[in-house]
Amino acid sequence: METVLVIGATGNIGVAAVQAVLRSGRKVLAVVRNEASAQKLFQHLGTKEGITIVEADILSDQGVKSVVDQVRAGKLPAFQHVYSAAGGAYGATPLQEIETSDLRKFMTINFESNFFAYRATIPYLLEQKDVKCTYTLCTGSQGDIGARAAPALTQGALFSMANVACRDNADTNVRFNEVYVGVRIEVDVVAEKTGAMKSSDFSSVYEELLSRPEIDCCRVTVYGKDDLKDLKYRKKIA
Ligand SMILES: NC(=O)c1ccc[n+]([C@@H]2O[C@H](COP(=O)([O-])OP(=O)(O)OC[C@H]3O[C@@H](n4cnc5c(N)ncnc54)[C@H](OP(=O)(O)O)[C@@H]3O)[C@@H](O)[C@H]2O)c1
Repeated sequence: METVLVIGATGNIGVAAVQAVLRSGRKVLAVVRNEASAQKLFQHLGTKEGITIVEADILSDQGVKSVVDQVRAGKLPAFQHVYSAAGGAYGATPLQEIETSDLRKFMTINFESNFFAYRATIPYLLEQKDVKCTYTLCTGSQGDIGARAAPALTQGALFSMANVACRDNADTNVRFNEVYVGVRIEVDVVAEKTGAMKSSDFSSVYEELLSRPEIDCCRVTVYGKDDLKDLKYRKKIA
């Protein structure tokens, strides 16, 4: 049975990814910050079935790398797919007032975490030449809207990273896609109070994406309920 490595597994987007993986009949290798985060994940899901937990510091360049090392050593399950949804740092400080330390903090949490995950896992996926692997990166429309400076800057970097990754993996066994989210997603218990889209509803996007081999090197755009099953996508690069 296939396994999906989920980075940021305990967040609004990560929980949706885990739900999608389990529904698709695959297993999850979930990277979590600590035991408390793991418990939070199980609470959101209502199950531990099909999930292997591994603790790692995703903000360190050695964090996800150490997970891959453990997989290679046979201490953790092999994986064929990666979903990267690390980040979530949000703020409304105007562009010219962002302190250097805050800029670096945002880049570390929202961008470097996803970059380190990519750099650590993509060689492992590419080595599996005869296996159809996928890599999915979640980004947000804040990078285009520009209303919140620091999150927007980090999303811009992720858009560019996705362009490069699409080009680099175009003729390989790795199907790379970006899921671009233009609507607020929150875990179900929170969404019920705020009116945001529920993670459990959003999860159908990844379930569809896993089953659609023709969606390759694309940006999948999600603005609302109409985009959850009838995926809207276009090639990222010519
Ligand atoms: N939710 C949305 O509506 C939305 C919309 C557009 C784009 N996105 C994209 O999705 C990404 C994730 O968003 P989200 O809403 O799912 O964020 P979130 O709920 O805050 O989750 C972020 C994930 O990253 C982990 N993380 C964050 N800082 C960490 C740290 N210092 N050390 C270890 N782990 C850390 C969190 O772990 P813990 O649970 O342990 O904190 C969690 O698993 C965003 O960066 C953005 O690119 C989300």
